[in-house]
Amino acid sequence: MQKKGTIDYSYIRKILNLDTQAATKNSSYGLASLSHYIQNQENGTKKYFESEAYKYLEEAKLVEEPAFQYQIPIKWDVPFPPTENPKFKFIDLFAGIGGFRIAFQRNGGKCVFTSEWDKFSQKTYEANFGEVPFGDIQEIHELNIPDHDILLAGFPCQPFSLAGVSKKNSLGRAHGFRDETQGTLFFDIVRILEVKRPKAFLLENVKNLVSHDKGKTFRIIKDTLKELGYSIHFKVLDGKHFVPQHRERIFIAGFDKQVYGPEAEFKFPEMPKANHIVRDILEKDVDPKYTLSDKLWKYLQDYAKKHQAKGNGFGYGLADFDGITRTISARYHKDGAEILIPQEGKNPRRLTPRECARLQGYPDDFIIPVSDTQAYRQFGNSVVMPLVKAIGANVVERLFQV
Ligand SMILES: C[S@@+](CC[C@H](N)C(=O)[O-])C[C@H]1O[C@@H](n2cnc3c(N)ncnc32)[C@H](O)[C@@H]1O
Repeated sequence: MQKKGTIDYSYIRKILNLDTQAATKNSSYGLASLSHYIQNQENGTKKYFESEAYKYLEEAKLVEEPAFQYQIPIKWDVPFPPTENPKFKFIDLFAGIGGFRIAFQRNGGKCVFTSEWDKFSQKTYEANFGEVPFGDIQEIHELNIPDHDILLAGFPCQPFSLAGVSKKNSLGRAHGFRDETQGTLFFDIVRILEVKRPKAFLLENVKNLVSHDKGKTFRIIKDTLKELGYSIHFKVLDGKHFVPQHRERIFIAGFDKQVYGPEAEFKFPEMPKANHIVRDILEKDVDPKYTLSDKLWKYLQDYAKKHQAKGNGFGYGLADFDGITRTISARYHKDGAEILIPQEGKNPRRLTPRECARLQGYPDDFIIPVSDTQAYRQFGNSVVMPLVKAIGANVVERLFQV
């Protein structure tokens, strides 16, 4: 019988035992299926998740729960609920904590699939979007991924090895560049593009991708994407135009030649004037635990001196309140050396997790449900969200110019 009224997502979460951090490998697949199933009731995508979602409910002996009558409208009491009346669908691969997802939701899209294997990132993702990412992308068959218009991925950079790759025919098919990527995470993007044929994609990586392995990695990436039938556009852009952080990343946009013609035009957005300063992202009352201990501060100073003597530029980075910071990295939790905040009469301090969120352009309602160490890792790995939103706006505009 259909129920009337709405139920809160937090209630569903509680009775479904959505504890992403404690989830075992199998149950986390179930949780991912179930939460994707709940979020995709209205767009023809739920069929991809239905059987696994019900399997999970049966195994957890939850099928009879009244709240599972999903005809009930759900009140999404998460900061970034699914987009209503979306203009397009996208998937969020190597999702981290969802920097791409916020950006593309704000451009009017609906996320229909997400994958991120780190348990702690999954926890942050679920708290903010009400959806548990699927785990290891290498274990997900491309046919189990719903149809989508745009594929998004900030994928880890790995060298392509020529080992085991020969140019001779195998299974009656000539080897191409695609085969050189086998076994890498880029290959997982390739096989999904090949089968699902989204109209467009946006990939992100470190600036050094271009020079990685003497240029070979980037050459293979470009050639593979072209071989798949996409026109390629790439540009290195700096997050400092949106936040007080120097963060250069390469963005690669692609458009299906079958849809947009052999040389689809695409322009990355003009960058606004960089007028953001560190002072703007600092919190007022900061816990003394973020102040460096005498021991660590001495260590960092000695380390810097040693390297200066050798003519190296390595060392800590004391932030200028009226300037921008260095690039925050995933190892910020180790000693905070790359970005330290000076303090009157005290040792400098690290940024707080909230300040790291702001440094990546995340709004203050973004929930940080994990330890400081995990939060530093997650924000250090993430993207300057408003930069991705600006690029995304152009990708979406182009998407509809067929
Ligand atoms: C550079 S980060 C991307 C961060 C993301 N763009 C964000 O805004 O937070 C790459 C992510 O890929 C994840 N990852 C690496 N290998 C993976 C795999 N085999 N399956 C799923 N996720 C993976 C890592 O845990 C990491 O969070």
